[in-house]
Amino acid sequence: MRVICWKTTWLSIQTMELFDNLMDSLSGQSYGVIDSFLTSEEINGLVINLRKRHAAGSFKEAGIGQGSGQHIQVLVRGDQILWLEEFSVVEIEQVYYKKINALIQSLNQSCYLGLKDFEFHYALYPIGAFYKRHLDRFKTDSHRKISVVCYLNEDWQATDGGELVIYLPNKPPVKISPVGGRLVCFEADILEHEVLPATHERLSLTGWLKTY
Ligand code: OGA
Ligand code: MN
Repeated sequence: MRVICWKTTWLSIQTMELFDNLMDSLSGQSYGVIDSFLTSEEINGLVINLRKRHAAGSFKEAGIGQGSGQHIQVLVRGDQILWLEEFSVVEIEQVYYKKINALIQSLNQSCYLGLKDFEFHYALYPIGAFYKRHLDRFKTDSHRKISVVCYLNEDWQATDGGELVIYLPNKPPVKISPVGGRLVCFEADILEHEVLPATHERLSLTGWLKTY
């Protein structure tokens, strides 16, 4: 297990503001969005890596559930995934991990969440694939505190579909377009959500911030 180090990370004022807004939103309504969490170059680097690994056949159909209870069910979810190494040697993945570490440090300092670890996978939704309404936290795994989805779709248009729909208690659902560089965080054990089908391949880095 990787334990988040506590050495000070210097953040720009702009980044601190983005993180502050995200934390306000997370504590107020259990979800938050940061646009442009990644630069175009970072998106590009991650997409190149994703495509290379996908072409090499490293992606697997995503399953539902955990361990031996896991089964593939395309009627529920149609994405293909590849887990990132915990201690990745891929430079662009290290850049991403660094940003996530900074986010975790901010969340721990302001919200006392006690986050200690994270896990991420690449996800590729082929055209028309979806993920039906669900909750992320497994019954057998209560360590996933915050779900984090970062989109890698440059030039995504509103008409391309593929929205993440978040179901809020006593409010209309929120639809979020998977625009490149956008980061969405939500409380893993509280908010049900779904992924709508898209007219293009839909790419993301999806993961969880965990208590251990
Ligand atoms: C998931 C998920 C949301 C998205 O992988 O569990 O809900 O927008 N992803 O990709
Ligand atoms: Mn989910």
